[in-house]
Amino acid sequence: MYQIMVEQAKAVVNAGGGIRGEKVSHGIKYLEQLQGVFEDREAFGAMDPKTLVYEVDSQAMVSEGTAGGLFFGTSYIHPGQVGNEYFMTKGHYHNRRESAEYYWGIEGSGLLLLMEESGSIRAEQVIPGSLHYIPGNTSHRLVNTGTTVLTVGACWPSDAGHDYKSIEENGFTARVVNVDGKPVVLCKEGS
Ligand code: F6R
Ligand code: MN
Repeated sequence: MYQIMVEQAKAVVNAGGGIRGEKVSHGIKYLEQLQGVFEDREAFGAMDPKTLVYEVDSQAMVSEGTAGGLFFGTSYIHPGQVGNEYFMTKGHYHNRRESAEYYWGIEGSGLLLLMEESGSIRAEQVIPGSLHYIPGNTSHRLVNTGTTVLTVGACWPSDAGHDYKSIEENGFTARVVNVDGKPVVLCKEGS
């Protein structure tokens, strides 16, 4: 029999989803980086380009593209609107299309838009504790429909990669807008 030293965890995740520790980075998305994402161009142009729309903490214990590894992250989508459309993430497919991902709600409330390449779209309600399995071949976007920060955890394969281009070119087939204080999902014809 022999003893091994017990190590401390390499990182900690606090109750609010914040990740601190080894190989953790913090990304910020300002409104100016979301050109073309929101429908109302006039409202977009009238806003401060430095408005903070969302942030992401993530831990990468292996380098991007490593087969068999996992990444772990927390996204914080701030409350706000561009015109009547709620703040949201850019949204993406995974480069490696078959890659799935887990999301889970931590704080706040919102919607997860899930779109297949056919354009067929659905939305899941995100609340603290909700668990969302995002299958392969499905683009995903988080929308904050509340008045507080929407915080969502995520875990995805380290070789999934991100394809933002398909969304930049074609967009999502649904938008989430505030109608009389309530979120309404408006779908394009045929989706
Ligand atoms: C990772 C993932 C999330 C998002 C984050 C920001 O695959 O889905 O960590 O990257 O919510 O959204 P995007 O990447 O669309 O700007
Ligand atoms: Mn993803």
